[in-house]
Amino acid sequence: MVIARFYSIEDWEQYVDMKMELIDFQSMIDVRTKELKQEIKKRERIELEVDKLERLNIIGQLAAGLGHEVRNPMTTIRGFLQMLQVKPDLHTYKSYFDLMIEELDRANTIITDFLSLAKIKPTKLKRECLNKLLDNIFPLLLADAYTQGKKCIFEPGDITELDIDTNEITQLVLNLARNGLDAMHPDGCLTIKTFLDGHNIVLSVRDEGTGINPEHISKLGTPFFTTKESGTGLGLPMCYSIAHRHRGQIDVKTGSDGTTFLVQFPQPIGTNIGF
Ligand SMILES: Nc1ncnc2c1ncn2[C@@H]1O[C@H](COP(=O)(O)OP(=O)(O)OP(=O)(O)O)[C@@H](O)[C@H]1O
Ligand SMILES: [Mg+2]
Repeated sequence: MVIARFYSIEDWEQYVDMKMELIDFQSMIDVRTKELKQEIKKRERIELEVDKLERLNIIGQLAAGLGHEVRNPMTTIRGFLQMLQVKPDLHTYKSYFDLMIEELDRANTIITDFLSLAKIKPTKLKRECLNKLLDNIFPLLLADAYTQGKKCIFEPGDITELDIDTNEITQLVLNLARNGLDAMHPDGCLTIKTFLDGHNIVLSVRDEGTGINPEHISKLGTPFFTTKESGTGLGLPMCYSIAHRHRGQIDVKTGSDGTTFLVQFPQPIGTNIGF
């Protein structure tokens, strides 16, 4: 053990000063360490985001080429099936023809969704209020919820107008809402809200489901990741890609009492309060 010995009051003062400097120095180190840890976490998050976007980009390019090639023969097959379907001598096979055409249409929808990740058509931005758009599609969501014995509410907040592509944002809302409805038991309630958070306009979609498995969180938004029997795993990648084209960001909060998807859009300069 080291025992400090002091021969004068000056010695003692010098010792105290030195100690104080050391304490200051230590607290500076602590603050800087905390800042560095936060910085590292932020970088890791950005790297994950970039990684996700790069994957989406490659898949998008592949989809653009493949989708067109696959669609053409499918259209031909569908045409012939439609033609054969009405032949009187093939009438006994009508249900088979119906099923084949339905399946082709389903495949076509999957390709359309996949192609929208590649985004060949440019995003058409128009200044509009998100509340108005949500108000228009709310009856559709209500009907969806109702047929599953679930509830759906919309709480519009005082938000400013946004530059949005109506079709794309409709897709985003429908996908998030349908995921929320899928995650809930009957009687569960889906809550859609809009509000201002600093300079961001936020769209929140909250369900009362059982939450997302922690192991699955990093996979959200990866094309074809699905835990559903009849899911394609293209809903969320589409949402991430749409949010990105609107300079927005999607955050997820999940727990045993449900999941909330928060889509944050930067508020455009010079906008009015809408709705
Ligand atoms: N609100 C939610 N609650 C619980 N799990 C969710 C929620 N949203 C997404 N997930 C999980 O993320 C997976 C991927 O979602 P995504 O929407 O991309 O595909 P999907 O819903 O499975 O199929 P689809 O292409 O038909 O939308 C889901 O299968 C589900 O496991
Ligand atoms: Mg989905």
